[in-house]
Amino acid sequence: MSNEWWRGGIFYQIYPRSFFDSNGDGIGDLYGITTKLEHIASLGVDAIWISPFYKSPMIDFGYDVSDYRDVDPIFGVNEDFDALLRKAHNLGLKIIVDMVLSHTSDKHPWFVESRTGNTNAKADWYIWADPKPDGTPPNNWQSIFGGPSWTFDTRRGQYYMHNFFKEQPDLNYHNPAVQDAILEECRFWFERGVDGFRLDTANFYFHDKELRDNPPKTDGIAGATQLDFIEPYAMQRHVYDKTRPENIEFIKRLRALSNEYEGTMLLGEIGDDNGTEISALYSSGDDKLHTTYSFSLMHGRRTELTASLIRSAIEDHLAQQGNCWPSWAFSNHDVVRSASRFNTKNTTPDLAKLILAILCSLRGTAFIYQGEELGLPEAEIPFERLQDPWGKYLWPEWQGRDGCRTPMPWHSDKKHAGFSAAKETWLPVPDEHQGLAADLQEHYGDSTLNFTRALLKWRKNYPALKSGDIAFHDFGDNALLGFSRTTESEKIFCLFNLSDAEKTVSLPVKMKKNITLQGKQTGPIDHEQITLPAFGFCHISFTD
Ligand code: BGC
Repeated sequence: MSNEWWRGGIFYQIYPRSFFDSNGDGIGDLYGITTKLEHIASLGVDAIWISPFYKSPMIDFGYDVSDYRDVDPIFGVNEDFDALLRKAHNLGLKIIVDMVLSHTSDKHPWFVESRTGNTNAKADWYIWADPKPDGTPPNNWQSIFGGPSWTFDTRRGQYYMHNFFKEQPDLNYHNPAVQDAILEECRFWFERGVDGFRLDTANFYFHDKELRDNPPKTDGIAGATQLDFIEPYAMQRHVYDKTRPENIEFIKRLRALSNEYEGTMLLGEIGDDNGTEISALYSSGDDKLHTTYSFSLMHGRRTELTASLIRSAIEDHLAQQGNCWPSWAFSNHDVVRSASRFNTKNTTPDLAKLILAILCSLRGTAFIYQGEELGLPEAEIPFERLQDPWGKYLWPEWQGRDGCRTPMPWHSDKKHAGFSAAKETWLPVPDEHQGLAADLQEHYGDSTLNFTRALLKWRKNYPALKSGDIAFHDFGDNALLGFSRTTESEKIFCLFNLSDAEKTVSLPVKMKKNITLQGKQTGPIDHEQITLPAFGFCHISFTD
């Protein structure tokens, strides 16, 4: 396999707490993942991204790391990871792990030492600042999860900065010793054999040394946190608390490290209002990130699936990023599941399949989130069972991120859908997921699970879908998405009906052959028109 195995490849994202519980404590673990790797391999994906499994007080469920080199006992031991990696590699699957480098947990020994005073060896490893004369925080920076991004520490008599929860203090990357230490933590996992990293909040590493106030945002609020209601974080332009010029230099150091380990890759999560522009900066040339992870297709809690949504995301990317390689996802552990987000009525398997078909037809690397292959809808969590502190804070306006983090349903007739033998699981398995369990879907030829397998197998026959150029066609109908994917030797037109009604479409290209895998079109196929059912799609090869 080439060193660029990730380019145009398909990743599967695992949220380990909710994948499979092998020891009956109600929480998924690494051995659980290992026992289910055949399921992932059967989908035909190329690689897996595993969300954090390092030692953590779990305030942000692993995105608050207290020891980068140790697996948290909830998830197992380091040797469990080695076994997982070995088996994945034997099955032909690459593994990238999530590195949360912008902040640590407040229980990390570095922070524990840092907060003892301003003369210890780690005193300058985090972002400390004196209060203003009136005791208020040093500046106007806001935390993504609500409230100021400054918390006063009584021991040290100073504020420390955190972009997320107060238990996630931000590291001070202006200190070269911090950079060196973090690179060594990364090296540890490269040495263990991982195929790369998903870099959490990769544009958040540096802050403005002068701690200048962020200016107010005057041009709308969308974008900063994927939410679609007003919160203070979205009211600022994040000029000084993230995406600082120095950040790129550290990304280059990470890339130099990755270059020491042949065939490894860096996927950077970029979160900002102008994420596309920043992604271009961060992934241009061959000395920074290999690819960036875009939120463009994941905004909002309920949105309409329209041609312009997809088209503008991809065309913005092309306009600003040229040859940089994008990564796309419709779902992950932070956003409302796409099967519910895009559908104001009932969730249907046809919509779930359509979303997967679009994702795997776009130019870029695609990320399927666990459960998307089963077409799982977002779960409703009763307030008493909420886990995500962000959800508790925003409830009832929003339930937070728990609705996309519920356990995977494996067996329809078992307790907790076969996810765990525990009395109670960390998040409940919703009743409606029980009927979508993997074992049931195995038996239906047209289930979302079998569709996913067929889609990915079929896609492998068409290199243009993996690496071809992309060009959109305007049908003058926002419910019709059409684009071509072309290489020198292959031309494929991809056509999707985003509405819940049948549509007859005049083809903008001359059909050579209908190569769609699903045979989703209804009515006679001729060379000019095609009729697609609700949420139907087709791929055709064409000539100029
Ligand atoms: C992760 C979130 C996490 C945050 C802070 C994000 O981008 O995906 O789950 O809460 O970073 O680490």
